[in-house]
Amino acid sequence: MDLLTLAIVGDVHLRWGPEDVRFFDSSEYDRVLFVGDLGGYRHSQTVALCRSIATMTKTSLVVPGNHDGPSLGALAGEVAGKPRLVRALSRGQSQRMEAIAHALGPVEVGGYSRHRIADGLDLIVGRPHSMGGPTMAFAPFLAKRFGVRSMEDSAQRLRGLVDDSDADRLLFLAHNGPTGLGDRRGDPWGCDFRDEEGDQGDPDLREALDHAREQGKQVLAVIAGHMHHGLRGGGLRTWQETHDGTLYVNAARVPRVFAQAGRTLRHHVALDVDAHGCRAREVLVPS
Ligand SMILES: [Fe+2]
Ligand SMILES: [Fe+2]
Repeated sequence: MDLLTLAIVGDVHLRWGPEDVRFFDSSEYDRVLFVGDLGGYRHSQTVALCRSIATMTKTSLVVPGNHDGPSLGALAGEVAGKPRLVRALSRGQSQRMEAIAHALGPVEVGGYSRHRIADGLDLIVGRPHSMGGPTMAFAPFLAKRFGVRSMEDSAQRLRGLVDDSDADRLLFLAHNGPTGLGDRRGDPWGCDFRDEEGDQGDPDLREALDHAREQGKQVLAVIAGHMHHGLRGGGLRTWQETHDGTLYVNAARVPRVFAQAGRTLRHHVALDVDAHGCRAREVLVPS
């Protein structure tokens, strides 16, 4: 018997409308999880989109992505690997996150947080605003908002969330997936923007998953996005894989709304969770 059925919305990047609100509100899903990157490059557009998501009556939760809150300059600093630039341009991120949370209204904003979503089943939300890889993106904001000052700090915080849970079963939600799923460009969180490819997963999330298993928890699924399905240079990323009884889902089909054979289709992933594991399937809703 299913414990619950979840809708996973991958990187939205402004592709959202009243059709989505109507669809999810009339759906059978127990809740809707957003993996982040709701916005694009303008904060005002992100806030407007959050106000639309807030009109949903379906219980939902968002983990902020690297496009949700940081300034354009700080984002550029992270892409360029210039931490001093990120520090200089990180002012205002707290206020922008407050505006996003306010606009989202009843929608929960997760990040270093634990949520009881069914009997004996907790959802642990990882580090917000991740851009993947060994560098902790937007470190000045994470230090100020969460007191997390390094990747090791972050891993420790996530392990603590596991320790605080009395649930036997866990789901993890993060903006970017963990390391360990492969180092080729087409792997679920493999790097497609460097010639040498590599594993672009989050090492702190991997530590939390390993820790959960060591504590005897059953990790049913890890849900994330960020590394878009369409690869630079062509091809598509593997978006789901099972390892050691855990289902890994990368829901970042971007754009999530697209035209095909004369129809407009709106993407999300349906995740059925039962006592033994999870099954994921892509859903394309015509509009
Ligand atoms: Fe994205
Ligand atoms: Fe992202």
